[in-house]
Amino acid sequence: MSVKDYIRTIPDFPAPGIMFRDVTTLFGDPRGFRMAVDQLLLPWAGVRINKVAGLEARGFILGGAVAHQLSAGFVPMRKKGKLPGRTIEQAYKLEYGTAVLEVHDDAIRPGEKVLLVDDLLATGGTAEAGLSLIGQLGGDAVGCAFVVDLPDLGGRQLLETTGHRVHALCS
Ligand code: PRP
Ligand code: HPA
Repeated sequence: MSVKDYIRTIPDFPAPGIMFRDVTTLFGDPRGFRMAVDQLLLPWAGVRINKVAGLEARGFILGGAVAHQLSAGFVPMRKKGKLPGRTIEQAYKLEYGTAVLEVHDDAIRPGEKVLLVDDLLATGGTAEAGLSLIGQLGGDAVGCAFVVDLPDLGGRQLLETTGHRVHALCS
């Protein structure tokens, strides 16, 4: 079994015509979850990483496990209005309209090496906002790790053209 075999596709969620790649079945399987976390770590062996930034919501589940394995800190990047302390924010585009991602302004110190983790890369808008927040705090983004890349949506290209290393387990 590969990571991809554990991912379920739900048609017409959250809207008609969308084939939703559901990673809860991957997370729910003991072997699948371990395999995914182990594979997310592979390209960063020997790379100094101080913090893992996880994107709400499924990036928290993966990012927490990855941070633990790296003995790194974990930084939640949340949708606006959820974090209790002082934050900085970055707006990003959704399919319809915009959303805002926030991080605590003391969550990353200047010069810290940060790995961004999420379940899925689609247009890349969410990850780009996360990378912007890392940069605004003076952090150094070492790269981005995803379980799934949806290549038709151009996210990888967007992130790579801005100079970021992208690692995805399947597409
Ligand atoms: C999904 C996914 C990524 C993002 C990818 O999250 O988990 O975070 O979309 O899309 P993009 O590359 O086009 O930005 P969603 O916005 O559905 O939020 P949720 O995890 O809180 O449900
Ligand atoms: N699954 C999870 N998140 C997503 C998807 C998907 O298929 N498409 C865009 N964001």
